[in-house]
Amino acid sequence: MRLPVLLLLWPLALLCLSGALANKHSGKYELILYWRLRQFTIQGLGEGTNIVAPKCPGDCTFEDFIKTVTQTEKGQKLLDSKGKPIKTADGKPLFERFPDWTKMDFTPFKTDELFSDPEAAAKEIDKVGFTGQFIRDSQFGAEMTFDQLIVKIEEVIDDTKKALAKDGIDLKKTYFKEITDLLPIIANARRKGGAASVLQKFKNWAAKTAKLENLRIVMKPPISRPPFVYEQIDFEATYNANSQKVGIQAWKEQIEKFAGTFNSSGQGLSHAEVVRSLEDLHRKLVNGCK
Ligand SMILES: *[C@@H]1O[C@H](CO)[C@@H](O)[C@H](O)[C@H]1NC(C)=O
Repeated sequence: MRLPVLLLLWPLALLCLSGALANKHSGKYELILYWRLRQFTIQGLGEGTNIVAPKCPGDCTFEDFIKTVTQTEKGQKLLDSKGKPIKTADGKPLFERFPDWTKMDFTPFKTDELFSDPEAAAKEIDKVGFTGQFIRDSQFGAEMTFDQLIVKIEEVIDDTKKALAKDGIDLKKTYFKEITDLLPIIANARRKGGAASVLQKFKNWAAKTAKLENLRIVMKPPISRPPFVYEQIDFEATYNANSQKVGIQAWKEQIEKFAGTFNSSGQGLSHAEVVRSLEDLHRKLVNGCK
């Protein structure tokens, strides 16, 4: 059966959007993870393997890598000097892209030790304007949802560990520890991103669906999940602070359950499951479990 193209594209657009919201904070750390994973597998399995980011073969620099695995956002149509759209050979208009990789300075990434300091590396990745979004088949060559990615990451680490052991290479002399340490950072970045996303979604929902103007939003005390500090909405306190507003009583339950509803939604895995799966993998790697 053939579905009209529009029908196929529209849920896809929605998926991309929800992903963009939640991954803005964690994306750059995930990028560092894939980069280190690539180096780790090459060390264990040999140059020719290219398991991570297979579309960036051979001597793939970080600049090549970021251009291969990440999405850019579409801007305006590119115009020529006469104001006419510039087109490709097959007649498709060309668009501005954000970030425009041709305008970015990739010099800081030439020093590989940069990636051993995830926060410093993340800062540089911000400067080149990474959107937080990956091309969905870019990490391992096939389209994957996050639950599939996590399974694949674990498999790749296991295979590499076995190959390293066979060659008598000490795991301590590889990027194994850095990779392990990145997992809770990514989980915490997802938490921080999730909190920002809940806040944004709640504001939109309150204004558009519940039609509640000028809500006073009460936050809980800051939460520290290294290296991040972030705040979550206190939904009960928020309801109580606005309980005199006309019409709000009808929305009490939805307001108080807003975080739970958010946590259980998501593409593939829910937000809460993504965090849990990252922490599970971290625990396994720390404990040397199979
Ligand atoms: C939602 O998930 C976050 C982790 O991002 C957690 O801190 C919070 O307690 C969860 N809230 C609910 C109501 O499940």
